[in-house]
Amino acid sequence: PIAKSLFGLDELEELIRREYGLSKLVIVPGDCDASPVTKRELGRAGAKALLSVLKPGDTVAVTGGSTLAEMADQLTAPIAPTFQKTWFVPARGGLGESMEIQANTIASTMAKRVGANYRLLHVPDLLGEDAYQSLAHDPNIGEIVHTIRHSRIIVHGIGDAMEMTRRRKLGEDAIAAIRTAGAVAESFGYYFNESGEVVHTMLTMGLRLEDIIRTEVVIGIAGGKRKAKAIHAMLRFGRENILVIDEAAAMEIGREI
Ligand code: BG6
Repeated sequence: PIAKSLFGLDELEELIRREYGLSKLVIVPGDCDASPVTKRELGRAGAKALLSVLKPGDTVAVTGGSTLAEMADQLTAPIAPTFQKTWFVPARGGLGESMEIQANTIASTMAKRVGANYRLLHVPDLLGEDAYQSLAHDPNIGEIVHTIRHSRIIVHGIGDAMEMTRRRKLGEDAIAAIRTAGAVAESFGYYFNESGEVVHTMLTMGLRLEDIIRTEVVIGIAGGKRKAKAIHAMLRFGRENILVIDEAAAMEIGREI
């Protein structure tokens, strides 16, 4: 808290929080891009934010990413309440990332750490139209997708659009289309431009945009100066309730308000 007021982070927090009507904004000191310690603190703050709203009986949908993986590692089970009736599910199907940072892995880690349950969604990333249609009609997949789409809480990472196209090894045509559309941010398989409008969608199973819009609690967690534009785009998209970011991103966002 002392470091926070020295840097005026409290004021910055309130400025951004009010501008975008967030119920809560947490800024951790430092820059994730420069320091793994800051990324750990971001994960810890994300874990704390989730526990502040998590109730027995909730279903929580989580995305993948290294930030969410850090958050999963920092979750600790509180003595009360207990979460035997709480479920963690991945927000979407595999999105072509390595095992450690896939949404399935993160959902199971988080569930184990707080003594909750998890269900996984085993479908490949980047489905073709035919495969998508036949999987969508499979009753088992349909059931888990229904659960995912009706989660009370969503926890998601935010990525820089072009970096995510590379990480997901998209084809040249897709990359060119995403660039031409002016995408700066990526989250839950959607690409957003600077104004927070969706400009590209990937065909994967799970959460859809309309679910994100009606979900009761949306928690975003991301940091690093390089992601400032992406985070700002998501703020303009305007569906976050709780946002956890770092000082480096917050300073850039604050400059533009
Ligand atoms: C992906 C999520 O796995 O991670 C995205 O599906 C997010 O929502 C991205 O944009 C962010 O990853 P990282 O590693 O930068 O936290």
